[in-house]
Amino acid sequence: MHSMDDALWLQRFPELELLIPSHELQERVAALGAQIARDYANCPPLLVGVLKGSLLFMADLLRAIPLRVSYDLVAVSSYGAETASTGQVRLLKDLDSPIENRHVLVVEDIYDTGLTLSYLLELLQQREPLSLRVCTLLSKPARRQVSVPIAYCGFEIADRFVVGYGLDYAEQYRNLPFIAALNQ
Ligand code: IMP
Repeated sequence: MHSMDDALWLQRFPELELLIPSHELQERVAALGAQIARDYANCPPLLVGVLKGSLLFMADLLRAIPLRVSYDLVAVSSYGAETASTGQVRLLKDLDSPIENRHVLVVEDIYDTGLTLSYLLELLQQREPLSLRVCTLLSKPARRQVSVPIAYCGFEIADRFVVGYGLDYAEQYRNLPFIAALNQ
């Protein structure tokens, strides 16, 4: 079952197939936040969101962690208007501040091939943070090329191209409150 709000969106976007309804996302994000708050109770982390995909997840996750956290943002190159990775990752926007004395938690929308996360983790590790871990909303194991350690994962999904809750196809669908598969 999905909420009435999700149903209204889906009526207007017939190309979408609901995968994770908004209430399930919100419940899972609350649980992840509670777990992070327990694990970091004595060392509030710096959350590093990966733009643009993690924006909605990050905003909800931050509000589910009742600790003195701060956050920063990086941007990496995306696939553009394609649904397959080009394998090339570029840093488009760096962090605002140094992280060498911080416990860093990278917040990502989806761990797919792993190329983005392995690039980012290597880059951040060079700056010698006190600790460096990853929280990803989604994981698509079928497409893995590089594996990286994941401390927190919201949902494992099948090998479908998904949109919504920050994830896009050609910059569309980021504003959906749920995760849907895109039938092309
Ligand atoms: P990776 O480097 O292949 O692990 O993928 C990382 C990035 O690719 C994610 O942060 C997303 O922006 C994008 N991506 C991967 N799979 C999907 C998808 O199914 N829908 C939308 N974007 C995706």
